[in-house]
Amino acid sequence: PAPGWTVDADVVVVGSGVAGLTAALRCTAAGLRTVVVTKARLDDGSTRWAQGGIAAALGEGDTPEQHLDDTLVAGAGLCDEEAVRALVTEGPDAVRRLIDTGALFDTDPESGAIQLTREGGHHRRRIAHAGGDATGAEISRALVEAVRSASLRTIENALVLDLLMDPDGRTAGVTLHVMGEGQHDGVGAVRAPAVVLATGGMGQVFSATTNPSVSTGDGVALALRAGAEVSDLEFVQFHPTVLFLGSDAEGQQPLVSEAVRGEGAHLVDADGVRFMLGQHELAELAPRDIVAKGIMRRMREQGAEHMYLDARHFGAQMWESRFPTILAACRSHGIDPVTEPVPVAPAAHYASGGVRTDLRGRTTVPGLYACGEVACTGVHGANRLASNSLLEGLVFAERIAEDIAAHPATPGPAVESEEAPGPLLDPATRIKIQRIMTAGAGVLRSADSLDHAAEALEVLYRSAAAEAEAGNGSDDVKDAEPGVDAWEATNLLLVSRVLVAAARAREETRGCHWREDRPDRDDDTWRRHLVVRLTPGRT
Ligand code: SIN
Repeated sequence: PAPGWTVDADVVVVGSGVAGLTAALRCTAAGLRTVVVTKARLDDGSTRWAQGGIAAALGEGDTPEQHLDDTLVAGAGLCDEEAVRALVTEGPDAVRRLIDTGALFDTDPESGAIQLTREGGHHRRRIAHAGGDATGAEISRALVEAVRSASLRTIENALVLDLLMDPDGRTAGVTLHVMGEGQHDGVGAVRAPAVVLATGGMGQVFSATTNPSVSTGDGVALALRAGAEVSDLEFVQFHPTVLFLGSDAEGQQPLVSEAVRGEGAHLVDADGVRFMLGQHELAELAPRDIVAKGIMRRMREQGAEHMYLDARHFGAQMWESRFPTILAACRSHGIDPVTEPVPVAPAAHYASGGVRTDLRGRTTVPGLYACGEVACTGVHGANRLASNSLLEGLVFAERIAEDIAAHPATPGPAVESEEAPGPLLDPATRIKIQRIMTAGAGVLRSADSLDHAAEALEVLYRSAAAEAEAGNGSDDVKDAEPGVDAWEATNLLLVSRVLVAAARAREETRGCHWREDRPDRDDDTWRRHLVVRLTPGRT
């Protein structure tokens, strides 16, 4: 539908987590007219749920070089070293600027120094945290407050439909579907020569995930439809320790932070045996993919649905002061970590891949930028190092703001696209996609499982396309007014199809991509990235 209202800006930021709000604040500070649009409320994304913290070489004796080494090892041969160098060298100051913005980190009561913990893959205490295990909530609070008092416009409940382009193939803004926001209600557009995608991840592709329900791959789907390059989608990170609430649990699941292991919790099997000992020099604090695989292996050996995280030795006081969020989540499900081991199993957590960018956050579509989980800047490679994601959001958002400020642009008139963006799915399709993906493209994959997933997704797509063509509704086709749920299901299907195609193509095991039928890493053939680009408008 044609936009009913239009807002003009220099920059439109899509998404309101650490990356989006940092980009927006820096753009505003640089004198750019900035609009933030976000699908739900400003603090509804993944950032708020981050527990462990933010990694940066802030501790005595730690150096960016050591942080770089740990990041490269976790990334299993696929990190872009230059991007990692930018991350780790600019990281400490970016964290200090976040503190200047108002974020309160936990500090040592005597020295006042920032307290640092450890997580998987880090050889040092390097993770700054807030509220014990509520780091993301504090960062989100501080950034939302700063945004509210800055002179920038925010539009909430605004689902971005697609990118506007000018006749030269340059970004000219976005079209939006907004609900219940007064002046900006219904379908509208923000016209701007720079669009920053900061829409977060796609954990909702799977049945059980640590991600909130809004993490539906919208940014990657939009970028694909706009003809931007997307890379490394096969590298979905499964967090090793997610509270196990039953094998049929669906939707967002409670995370049990790596920081719990960083402070000394042990992973044990059904017999109470510490099975990570001897598997890696860091045992429970090995990089995340290794711990997730260790858990899955032992689950298979024992025919168990989960393992246990044992931190009874922390005692009540430490649990209450250091991990209040996790303690409350466990207790709300009838588990008391002070007196019993916590049942845990891996669940989908983080998309290491995404919309491909250069070191300035520029995608392959002129004027379109990406940062945060939606982006593939090259810092994560085949497996993100724990707590590098909030840092990536900060550092690359700042780089993007600098780049936009340094290259002022005026868009030409937006070209009206006559082409429909493909069939819109019935929201009920979401759960079908999630089950297909969990069965076929989850933590453990094989050619067979991926073939089945690809086939099942194609059946969903073809039936939606055929019904849309015929103009009549079916179970899987939305023929009513397009709404957020329908767009989310549509985006989930597109990113799932590309993810499965990449996972089928990569015939090796590397980082968090684990192929049962190809158990070895194959550097001769596969030390490279899988890059996908669709013809603009294709779905
Ligand atoms: C956690 O707290 O374990 C999550 C940290 C992360 O995903 O980086």
